[in-house]
Amino acid sequence: MTLEPRSAPVVPIYYGGDYNPEQWSPETWREDVRLMRRAGVNLVTVGVFSWAQLEPREGEFDFGWLRSVLDLLGEADIGVDLSTPTASPPPWVMARYDDVAPLDERGARFSHGSRQHFCVLSPNYRRLAARVVARLVGELGDHGAVRMFHLHNEYACHVPYCYCDRHAEGFRSWLAGRYGSVPELNRAWGTSFWSQRYATFDEVLPPRMTPTHANPAQLLDFKRFSNDTWLEECLEEKRLVREVRPDIPVTTNFMGLFKPLDYFAWAEHLDLVSTDNYPDPADPQAAFWSALHYDMVRSLNKSVPWVVMEQTTYRVNWRRHNVPKVPGQMRALAYQALARGSSGLLFFQWRASRSGAEKFHSAMVPHSGERSPVFAEVVRLGAELALLEGLGAAPVAAEVGVLFSWPNWWALEEGTQPAQDMSMQGQLAWMARPLYDRQVTLDFCRPAEDLSRYRAVVAPSLYLLSEQEGANVVDYVQQGGTAFISFWSGIVDANDEVHMGPYGGPLRPLLGCDVLDVAPLPPGEQVEVEWEDGTRTAADFWADVAVERDGKVLARVASGPWAGTPAVVETAYGAGTAYYVGVRLDTGGMRRLYDRCEATCGREGEPGVERTVRRAGGARYEFLVNHGATEHQVTVTWPGTELLSDVQAAGTLTLAPWGVAVVRSQDG
Ligand code: GAL
Repeated sequence: MTLEPRSAPVVPIYYGGDYNPEQWSPETWREDVRLMRRAGVNLVTVGVFSWAQLEPREGEFDFGWLRSVLDLLGEADIGVDLSTPTASPPPWVMARYDDVAPLDERGARFSHGSRQHFCVLSPNYRRLAARVVARLVGELGDHGAVRMFHLHNEYACHVPYCYCDRHAEGFRSWLAGRYGSVPELNRAWGTSFWSQRYATFDEVLPPRMTPTHANPAQLLDFKRFSNDTWLEECLEEKRLVREVRPDIPVTTNFMGLFKPLDYFAWAEHLDLVSTDNYPDPADPQAAFWSALHYDMVRSLNKSVPWVVMEQTTYRVNWRRHNVPKVPGQMRALAYQALARGSSGLLFFQWRASRSGAEKFHSAMVPHSGERSPVFAEVVRLGAELALLEGLGAAPVAAEVGVLFSWPNWWALEEGTQPAQDMSMQGQLAWMARPLYDRQVTLDFCRPAEDLSRYRAVVAPSLYLLSEQEGANVVDYVQQGGTAFISFWSGIVDANDEVHMGPYGGPLRPLLGCDVLDVAPLPPGEQVEVEWEDGTRTAADFWADVAVERDGKVLARVASGPWAGTPAVVETAYGAGTAYYVGVRLDTGGMRRLYDRCEATCGREGEPGVERTVRRAGGARYEFLVNHGATEHQVTVTWPGTELLSDVQAAGTLTLAPWGVAVVRSQDG
């Protein structure tokens, strides 16, 4: 069967992108609206970088031009995601106010001339930002075209940390709030080491440039404090918007696996979670990373919808060498987002800029205009979305949870670890990629949240873990869950203080062995791992040095100085089972491990094809996405209608290179 797209009139899913009309003439605005209608665009984000046009001089506001743009969009029934413009203060802000420039750890000042050049604790920035936000929503918040509010743009993206004196003061009060007293701070930070003991809070500094390693607990707390500071600014903007329009959803665009901000904490405050995703089309792992990104964003706040707020149609311009998406790849990656629950597909940006730092970043309307093949792909995608009516908010049921926390990420990659090349993303990929290959959909979970809905959880180096978080994981297993716990988990508490005794802290009951030490392996070297049946796989990077306890040893290290140490241990605990993995197993080893739990971890699917299911209103939508240049025959799990071709699908169907199918069947 060959799938031919058909067209239909209704567009129930957000489709559009960042629209920057301040870069264009009113004549082009009218042309834009015409092209947006052609492409089926129903939502554009306007105003992201408009501050200098909205307030050209301090206190002189001009909302007329933006109102005209909103009028044009509204007349064409194109919704507006109205953005606050605070991510890029105009030159006059910095020229007039000394406190606005952020400082790096050496005390060097950032200048204007780019974007994100402000200290989030600068009183003048805060005052001016609040004023322009209040004026904007006061003037245009009730415009009929506005469907959504977009706060700022990618909070903290370029300058996540500022080390100025205000940050020093703010950090001190934050610490006083967290620890209550200086002795308690000294205890939590372990300041007996290297003569770091503080006599008063006033002596504490942000982690500015130091001769060698700063105190890891100080670094960790500064990250916590900085996160809270950014969130506070975001919530202030949200409050100002809400005062005028309590009825309209508010979002801010995240950046997926972005380290500086604890997005779990942020997502609680949003009506809609949104994210910007720019996988490298040249990376053979692009589809995997993109899937992981979407799974993560979807599960940050499990009770609100989410959308892709930005992606590129073709190519970015900020990598060293910017390989484009090949024809069809944009569509495949777009369907991947829908398959993983997105309620929309938005792009950066609508029209390619003529000048400025992003003029060679692709857009929905390229420099060459309507005749460009990229625009043709954009039009096709917009038309197809109309065929997915009913999908809008259909939930995605993830089977497996990834235990993840930002404080763990911050502490794990701090520079005094046994292996400084330990990376959160590396550990995630190691444990999650084999599950992706088995077509298992993942949720990201805070270690302390209710895990009972998952068939299994995986813990990739959950190094920082409080007693309470650990107890939750242990309880989940006791109640019948399955947990896969990697080496370097349960090592320190929330203050980065080691849980003493054999490693594992609150997770020790699940490890089934006693981890007495750890051995990062020489770079590039492998050790052999022998399984119960005598077969061998390999491992690299790391070996825990452990002795047997109450678990069943499934595999041991079989070569090198640590030969004999348990490498994989299965522990029956309560009604559940835990698997401890003390080495970085290779692909074959991970396959063996997950194969043992086929009921929980599924089976490997068709290579290169992603399969995901969404369910809503008595219907089941099976998404099949081909992420490669080879044709695939795929099996349809439930016979139904393939929505993009309107053909009955059963048995197998052919997915063309980069092809997509969405089969809707009756649920039940
Ligand atoms: C995003 C940003 C956009 C644009 C885009 C380019 O991070 O929000 O404004 O710069 O990247 O890829």
